[in-house]
Amino acid sequence: MSTARTIDGRVAAQTVLDDVAREVAALHENGIEPCLAVVLVGDDAASDVYVRNKVRRAQEVGIRSVEHRLDAATSEAALLALIARLNADPKVHGVLVQLPLPAQIDAGAVIAAIDPLKDVDGFHRENVGRLALGEPTLAPCTPQGCLILLQQTLGDLAGKHAVVVGRSNIVGKPMAALLLNAHCSVTVLHSRSENARELCRTADIVVVAVGRAGFVDAAWIKPGAVVIDVGINRVGAALAGEPARLVGDVDHASVLQVASALTPVPGGVGPMTIACLMRNTLLAARRQSLSLPDPLTLAR
Ligand code: GUN
Repeated sequence: MSTARTIDGRVAAQTVLDDVAREVAALHENGIEPCLAVVLVGDDAASDVYVRNKVRRAQEVGIRSVEHRLDAATSEAALLALIARLNADPKVHGVLVQLPLPAQIDAGAVIAAIDPLKDVDGFHRENVGRLALGEPTLAPCTPQGCLILLQQTLGDLAGKHAVVVGRSNIVGKPMAALLLNAHCSVTVLHSRSENARELCRTADIVVVAVGRAGFVDAAWIKPGAVVIDVGINRVGAALAGEPARLVGDVDHASVLQVASALTPVPGGVGPMTIACLMRNTLLAARRQSLSLPDPLTLAR
């Protein structure tokens, strides 16, 4: 018997995108055209799909996008020179460099080179610091999307015990900061954690971002908990005759029996990530162009 509700990320993302499109139209009326520059180095197939989706979504909400596709052998100096040009271009409001980057390029140096005001990924140390301090900032898109889904599902999160499984700079760490800023008690579990399953089973909220298919099953989940699955793992392709399919980091069949709500894969967190990128681009454009208050509450 299945008890959990499936949280529809596509519907939630459309609500965010509709809000963004309305605010973008208002900027157009003031002669401001929000613009996102997306940089892709090399020909990684998954990155190519992500970049195309970002560009398409931008078009749909009225955000201009500029794609820079660079050869896999591009030097770090050449990439830094492009970022300097985009930083200096007043018509460009957001700069996103798709990760991962080829081995010859230091991703840390590239992220540090992006103007923090244009850092729509929220990865620059200045924006990471602002988030840690609970100040308004451009927060990373995936955890921002997870937070919206949790608030829509549970309302006020204050006082809830949230467990984040995974401590990456892109998801786990900023997710913990956002949940702490939303007044949760936060536990971060990782590969060195002792008693991870038992600790996780005390959580009201579980966010899983470890990059391992089906890693968290029902034994990790307290009855009634809300579970957010950030994982996108491609499985099945190597097995003869079985088509590749996408699965999350959560074992959905078992967790559906104990959780109260769970995000699907695909159709859960993924659409929210892109919607929040559009939201960050809008916020960045407003900040750079107007001295008006932000139309949407900046993530805290
Ligand atoms: N690669 C995987 N996720 C992301 C992301 O959120 N931003 C960027 N720039 N690259 C990624």
